[in-house]
Amino acid sequence: MHAISTKSLTLGYGEENIIDQLDLSIPKGKITVFIGSNGSGKSTLLRSLARLLKPKSGSIVLDGNDIAHTSTKKIARKLAILPQSPVAPEGLTVLQLVKQGRYPYQNWLQQWSEKDEEAVVNAMKVTRMSEFADRKVDSLSGGQRQRAWIAMTLAQDTETILLDEPTTYLDMTHQIEILDLLYDLNQSEERTIVMVLHDINLACRYADNIVAIHDKKIYKQGDPDTIITPDLIHSVFGLQCHVACDPLCGTPMCIPFSKGKHLRAGRQQVNEANSY
Ligand SMILES: Nc1ncnc2c1ncn2[C@@H]1O[C@H](COP(=O)(O)OP(=O)(O)O)[C@@H](O)[C@H]1O
Ligand SMILES: [Mg+2]
Repeated sequence: MHAISTKSLTLGYGEENIIDQLDLSIPKGKITVFIGSNGSGKSTLLRSLARLLKPKSGSIVLDGNDIAHTSTKKIARKLAILPQSPVAPEGLTVLQLVKQGRYPYQNWLQQWSEKDEEAVVNAMKVTRMSEFADRKVDSLSGGQRQRAWIAMTLAQDTETILLDEPTTYLDMTHQIEILDLLYDLNQSEERTIVMVLHDINLACRYADNIVAIHDKKIYKQGDPDTIITPDLIHSVFGLQCHVACDPLCGTPMCIPFSKGKHLRAGRQQVNEANSY
């Protein structure tokens, strides 16, 4: 069962194609992570899935319906997106921002309801933003701001959530906190999560399905245990690495070759044992 699929999807800006004839299927109720080098088109692809970018050709199907022929509000009740580096209007408070997440449920007949209130309160609670309700978004630290945006995305209460680099600007503790929160939402409510992550090792811990994007196409897609190899990392990122087994989770863990302490005598051997 697929939450979203694309057929021969071509995306680009002006003359240039960024994604070319892509056939992608995103499994329902799973966590999918897009990986790829800077500028490979991850954000472009994610934005197109939320209909923020019109395809040059091809189609995108969400829950059985072509999104080109679905109303914006209908899409927004099924799918929420947190774009990369979003900017809030100046002076907006956290509560006002999170309330924006409820716009797909409002019209001139349907005013603010108890369900809207509940969704907002709950989203603020799980992201630990309740105490910041009246703070201006632009006065928050990077991590708090990111949590406020995630709260807005959660308030939208959709089956599918797309997040573009949700852990950027966060220290390690807060990265894990956000990813654990998304994991819990996936496990307890079977929400489909699709996100772009730069940290391959965290991607391997959380993803059921990794989509590696390279050269305008999917280089490989599948379970991290199967697809994350030194070869893939080299082809997709141009980086030489050792792939070890994460001692805590048993998932693949990429250790890049680099200059620095590891080249000191006695450690060389470890770097050369490139097996997983
Ligand atoms: N609005 C835009 N107009 C023109 N080119 C763009 C625009 N947004 C992104 N691009 C270009 O498209 C390519 C893919 O960008 P992006 O999807 O942001 O990559 P990623 O998220 O993988 O880093 C890059 O070369 C980028 O410069
Ligand atoms: Mg991006």
